[in-house]
Amino acid sequence: MQTELAGSRTMPRLPESIDTPRLRLRLPRADDAGWAYSAFAKDPDVARWVTWRPHRDIRETEVFLRMAIADWSIDPAEHRLYIVDDRATNAPLGLVNARFQGFPAHRASLGYLLAPSAQGLGYMTEAAGALTDALLSLPDIFRVWCVADVDNERSWRVMERIGMQREGILQRWAAHPNVSDEPRDVVCYAKVR
Ligand SMILES: CC(C)(COP(=O)(O)OP(=O)(O)OC[C@H]1O[C@@H](n2cnc3c(N)ncnc32)[C@H](O)[C@@H]1OP(=O)(O)O)[C@@H](O)C(=O)NCCC(=O)NCCS
Repeated sequence: MQTELAGSRTMPRLPESIDTPRLRLRLPRADDAGWAYSAFAKDPDVARWVTWRPHRDIRETEVFLRMAIADWSIDPAEHRLYIVDDRATNAPLGLVNARFQGFPAHRASLGYLLAPSAQGLGYMTEAAGALTDALLSLPDIFRVWCVADVDNERSWRVMERIGMQREGILQRWAAHPNVSDEPRDVVCYAKVR
């Protein structure tokens, strides 16, 4: 699936929803702010290994969602964030996102999180695995990759369960302000075709 843009540039196009056996990855909405703020955005445990600080006010979550919603209307595509819903109940559980990179885009990086109540059930393996498959099915995308803090083992276990290969350590790669004022080492994983 390709979108022809001005000049000769083409960009990959992801579907607006992706179904898995238990989950639906769907577009973010403004009315996600309430659950997103209370279920994960203000939670210091969820934010420990990420690049942002826990939200102190729901308005921060609203701005975050507005940006994620606006990203979907931007072509060429760069950032695509999905809310992960439980298909049986429609309850939101977390989010996954992809960022296209390269010119023209030929790789994508992944990000993800789950509300604490949704962890330990294999949901992220299912959601991140489906997004990785969707990305690698795009004709232009040859590499899907992800990094996690060397101490965020739960995150790199997800990468291993979805079939990514560990490529090594990137030293001083990521700012994780909730654990250190200095950039941290991360493990880098990728799945390529
Ligand atoms: C990273 C994160 C999403 C991982 O969550 P998770 O619940 O460990 O991952 P999964 O949803 O894939 O679940 C895997 C766990 O469910 C268990 N599980 C239960 N049923 C399962 C099933 N049907 N299929 C697969 N795993 C299942 C697995 O055994 C595993 O548990 P274990 O780690 O105790 O062995 C979560 O820790 C998180 O949101 N962290 C905060 C944000 C963050 O750090 N994001 C990543 C930044 S790089």
